[in-house]
Amino acid sequence: MQGLFISVEGIDGVGKSTHVKFIETYMQEQGFKTITTREPGGTELGEKFRALLLSNKSHMHRITELLLMFASRQELIANVIEPNLKQGVCVISDRYIDASIAYQGLGRKIGVDKLNSIISLLEPLLIPDLTLLFDAPVDLTFSRVGRHSEKDRIEQEDKSFFLDVQQAYYTIAKNEEHRVKIIRTDQHKEQTRMIIKKHLDNLIATKKVNS
Ligand code: TMP
Repeated sequence: MQGLFISVEGIDGVGKSTHVKFIETYMQEQGFKTITTREPGGTELGEKFRALLLSNKSHMHRITELLLMFASRQELIANVIEPNLKQGVCVISDRYIDASIAYQGLGRKIGVDKLNSIISLLEPLLIPDLTLLFDAPVDLTFSRVGRHSEKDRIEQEDKSFFLDVQQAYYTIAKNEEHRVKIIRTDQHKEQTRMIIKKHLDNLIATKKVNS
C-alpha cells in the first residue's frame, strides 16, 4: 500500500520545525513508519544545493535560485520520497513544491506560469496527500527570524517579501482547500497541536476508506 505523503509549509519564523517533530511522533503513535525530510536538502546532493542557496556569500539570479530548488527537489523525489512511499512509509517533508510557488513564483515574482512549466519536469510529479500550512502575522514571524542565529540569504529579505509569500500561500490554500490546511501558530501550543491531530486523524480515516 502506498504511504501517506505530508508536507509542511509556512513563512520563515512561523515555528514550523517544532511541529514537524510532533507530526512525526503522532504518526508513529498511530502505527505508521515515517521518514522526515526537508527542502531544500534531504539528500547528499540536495544538502549541497541547500548550503549554496542559503549562504549569504552566494549571489545568484532568481532563476538560478528556482532551478537549484527544483534540482534539490528532483533528487529528493527520486531518492527519498518515491521509494519510501512505494514501501508504505509515511513521508513528512518540511517544505515542498508550494514553497517554490510562494517564494520564487510570487516572492521573487517569477510568475506561476513559469513555475508550472518547471513543476511539470519533475519525475514523477508527486502531490502531497495533506499539506499543513503554518501561519502567523508577518510582524511576529519577522521579529523571530534571526533572533537565535544569523539570518540566511532568504531570511534577509524585507517584510514586504514575506507578506507576498504569505499571500501566495493563502492563494494556494484557497485553490486547494481539500489538500492544504492553514494552522495558526500564534496561539497556545496545545491548541495548535489539537488542530494538527484533527487533520492527521482525518487523513488517516480517508486512507482507511480508500484502502
Ligand atoms: P527552512 O529554513 O524552512 O528549511 O527553508 C529554507 C528556506 O528556503 C526558506 O527561507 C524558504 C526557502 N525556500 C524557497 O525559497 N523555495 C523553495 O522551494 C523551498 C523548498 C524553500
